[in-house]
Amino acid sequence: MPSTQVHRTQTLVLGSGLAGLYFALQVADRRSVTILTKHQRESSNTRWAQGGISAVFDPEDSVEAHVHDTLEVGAGLCREDFVRYAVELGPKLVSGLARDFGVQFDRVGNEDGAPFVLGREGGHSQRRVVHHRDMTGAEIERALVEAVERHPNITILEHHDAIDLLSFRKVDGTTGCFGCYALDIVHDRVVAFVAPVTVLATGGAGKVYRYTSNPHVATGDGIAMAYRLGAEVGNLEFMQFHPTILFHPDAKSFLISEALRGEGGILRTDEGADLMKDRHPMGSLAPRDVVAREIDAELKRSGKPCVFLDMTHLDPDFIVDRFPAIHARCMTLGIDMRRTPIPVVPAAHYTCGGVVVDHQGRTSVPGLMAIGEVAMSGMHGACRLASNSLLEAVVLAYGAAQTCDEFGREPPPQV
Ligand code: SIN
Repeated sequence: MPSTQVHRTQTLVLGSGLAGLYFALQVADRRSVTILTKHQRESSNTRWAQGGISAVFDPEDSVEAHVHDTLEVGAGLCREDFVRYAVELGPKLVSGLARDFGVQFDRVGNEDGAPFVLGREGGHSQRRVVHHRDMTGAEIERALVEAVERHPNITILEHHDAIDLLSFRKVDGTTGCFGCYALDIVHDRVVAFVAPVTVLATGGAGKVYRYTSNPHVATGDGIAMAYRLGAEVGNLEFMQFHPTILFHPDAKSFLISEALRGEGGILRTDEGADLMKDRHPMGSLAPRDVVAREIDAELKRSGKPCVFLDMTHLDPDFIVDRFPAIHARCMTLGIDMRRTPIPVVPAAHYTCGGVVVDHQGRTSVPGLMAIGEVAMSGMHGACRLASNSLLEAVVLAYGAAQTCDEFGREPPPQV
């Protein structure tokens, strides 16, 4: 039997969404990085994020207001210290994505340094969603993948599916992590990746559900591997359901961004009534869990298969300019949202719990870090405020990059 191939690196990253790529770029000037991704490099949940990334830029807005909205939506189960830390770091890190990596966020005017155009989504009391039209995640992914490809110290291996983490038991009985086994899908062989620090950036578990906004890769395997190794996990019962996934037999997992409601879209019943009227003070822009539950109750009451998101009262040119990707997708299915309300249903969207981490992405297992949706930092509590996911990803990746050297720089010489 051929022996298992061993690949050594100073830093092993599993996953190629915003968290994994941003972390790699922060550390690659001082340590070699190998990124494993189970499909193509840009296949991640980040790529599908439409709405944007939330941060306090509007002079009318404040850190206090963003913290308050996050805690409200989290239903008392967020960790306030982490929320405050993330919200305070937000503007610096979001500006850095544009300045350092060339992410093209929409700006007021064409000048490079012009203020960002700020969108609004459910549960936000202010406009604070920085975006690239309705393709924010795809734009962030594009810019970071290009930066990673340019960096000589980063190797990115596609079609490598992590199977299990490698562990050692220290003399005091505690466990540490020093890499993983991965299936090299193209060559159909198992490779051992050995590193002093392994960073889980594997995303969430939306694909556990039949109806989800998530891509195929969101299978929750990072959480499972960490759990098998003995890492603490938490809040896994809190799966967020997004209220508006396109309802059409030929449309699979297509999100209709909450930003549409942020620009004035109204949820309607089959009879055309305003679904959220008198149900919540924020109406159609109430927090996601509230809106998704109201839609579910309405579907059970009416026996209809979907409700509708009505944009027909808004300026048609604005709709096409602000939401070009959603408009184009709907048109391929014969739905012109300038004239016809969009049929929508709730579906699984975001894993609020995950591998328990501190502010810097350290898990309870030495040598194992977790950043992005796979992690449970305390940012989201029982439900996540819209567009706080990309914020949490970049904040955890930034913190993990500052601290990962404490696990050493060299992989163990023998396996
Ligand atoms: C959306 O655009 O509605 C999704 C944004 C998010 O999940 O935060």
